Amino acid sequence: MIGFGAVGSGVVNLFNNMTREIFERVGLSVELVKIAVRNKGKKRSQIFDKNKITEDAFSIVTDPEIDIVVEVMGGEEPAMALILKAISQGKHVVTANKHLLAMRGEEVYSAVESGEVELGFEAAVAGAIPIVRAIRSAFAGDRIDMIQGIVNGTGNYILSRMTSEGKPFNEILKDAQSLGYAESDPAFDIEGIDSAHKVAIMAALAFGTSVNFGSVFIEGITSITPDDISMAREFGLKIKLLATAKRCEGGIEARVHPAMIPQSHFLASVNGAYNAIEIICDNAAKNVLIGPGAGSGPTASAIAGDVIDIACKIARGGAGKTPPMLIPLELRNETKVKAISDMVFEYYLRFTVSDRPGILAKLAGALGEKGISIASMIQRGRQENEPVSVVLTTHSAAEADLDMALEQLKDTDICLAPVTKIRIQKDA
Ligand SMILES: NC(=O)c1ccc[n+]([C@@H]2O[C@H](COP(=O)([O-])OP(=O)(O)OC[C@H]3O[C@@H](n4cnc5c(N)ncnc54)[C@H](OP(=O)(O)O)[C@@H]3O)[C@@H](O)[C@H]2O)c1
Repeated sequence: MIGFGAVGSGVVNLFNNMTREIFERVGLSVELVKIAVRNKGKKRSQIFDKNKITEDAFSIVTDPEIDIVVEVMGGEEPAMALILKAISQGKHVVTANKHLLAMRGEEVYSAVESGEVELGFEAAVAGAIPIVRAIRSAFAGDRIDMIQGIVNGTGNYILSRMTSEGKPFNEILKDAQSLGYAESDPAFDIEGIDSAHKVAIMAALAFGTSVNFGSVFIEGITSITPDDISMAREFGLKIKLLATAKRCEGGIEARVHPAMIPQSHFLASVNGAYNAIEIICDNAAKNVLIGPGAGSGPTASAIAGDVIDIACKIARGGAGKTPPMLIPLELRNETKVKAISDMVFEYYLRFTVSDRPGILAKLAGALGEKGISIASMIQRGRQENEPVSVVLTTHSAAEADLDMALEQLKDTDICLAPVTKIRIQKDA
C-alpha cells in the first residue's frame, strides 16, 4: 500500500480485524506486505510492523512478491508514475484517487487494458457507496440515462448546518474545520471540484465515453447565504450541491452546482456528511444509493472490497480480464459535454438594489427583453435609498439568455452587488 494517512489507516485497521473473514472469502491469506509513506518517523496509532514501512514507494511497485498495489497517497504525481510502474510490472491496482482518475483516467485505463491487470476504484467515488460496482456490473445489462446526487460530504455538511442553524457559510466552514469535517484547505470540497472529479469518473463509466475534465461545469457553494436558504424554504425548496451526469441529445451533461430542489425530494433529506446518488436506468428505473461518502472506515471498506474481488480472481484464475471501464477502450470515444449556457432551467435570482421607485420595473424589463418571464417576486425590507434584496424566480429560461440579461444589468446603476443565481430543479 502507498499511503498511510486517513484512508491507509482505515485499511490497516480493517485488515487487522478481518484477517479470518478475508481468508475465508478469498481462500488464500491476503497480506499487507509493505506500506510506503512520506515520513517514516511519523507516529501512527495503528498496529503495523514498523520494519515493513518504507519511504521508497517505488520499492513496492517493483517488488516481485507483491500482487496488488493499493494507492492511497493522493495527488497526480508521483501517484501516476507509481501506478503506471505497478501496471508495467504486472501488478493489479486499487486506488481511491479520484483527482488522478478524473484528470488522467484514460492513460490509466489504457495501461490497465494493455497490461492485462485489474483496476479497482470503488473508493474513488463516494467512499463506501458501491456506485462503481453498480454501474460496472449491477446495471451493466441496462442503459443508464442519468446519475445525480450529493457526492461531497463536506459540502453537504456545511449546507445542512447552514440550513438548520441559519448561520453564514464562513462561520460553519470554520466550525467544520475544527471538528474535522473539512480540511484546512477545503477548496476542492466547497468549490465543487471534488464532486466534479466524481462526476467525470461516473459519466465516463456509465456512458462508455471519455470525459474531458475541463468541460465539466463546476460551481461551488461559497456564495450561498442564509438568506438564500431561508428564501428557498419559503418556496418549499432546499439548496443542495448536486452532481449530475446525464445523457442528452448530441452528448452528455456533466455538471456540479448548487440547486434548489423540492423539500419533498429524497436528496433534500440527505443531511450532514452523507452522500446519496440516484441512478435512472431505462429498465431498472430509479434506484438510490445512500451512505457515508468519505472517511477512514467507509473508504477502507470500499478498498478492501476491491482487493478481495481481485484476490478471488487471482486465487481462482481470471485476473486481468475485466475491462476497467465496462467497454474496451477501442470502442470508447470522447463525447461532447453540453455547455451550461445551452441548458434550460428555472432560476432563483437575488438582486441587491437601491430601494427607489421604478427599480423593479427595470429588473423585470431587462429580463423580459431576453424573453425571461418572472414566476414570483419578493422584496425584503423597505428603507428608501438603502440597499434591499429583491428575489425573483423565473419560469424556464435558456441560461445564455439569462446571462446576457444579467450582464446588461451589471453595466447599469440598478444592481449594487453581484447577482446570486441558483438553478431550480423542481423535477430533480
Ligand atoms: N480521506 C477520505 O475520506 C477519502 C475518501 C475517498 C477517497 N480519498 C482519497 O484517498 C487518497 C488518500 O487520502 P487521505 O485522506 O488518506 O490522505 P492523507 O491522510 O493526506 O494521507 C496521504 C498518505 O500518503 C503518504 N504520502 C504522501 N506522499 C507520499 C510519497 N511521495 N510517497 C509515499 N507516501 C506518500 C503520506 O505519508 P505520511 O503519513 O508520512 O505523511 C500519507 O500517509 C486521496 O486520493 C483521496 O482523494 C480520501
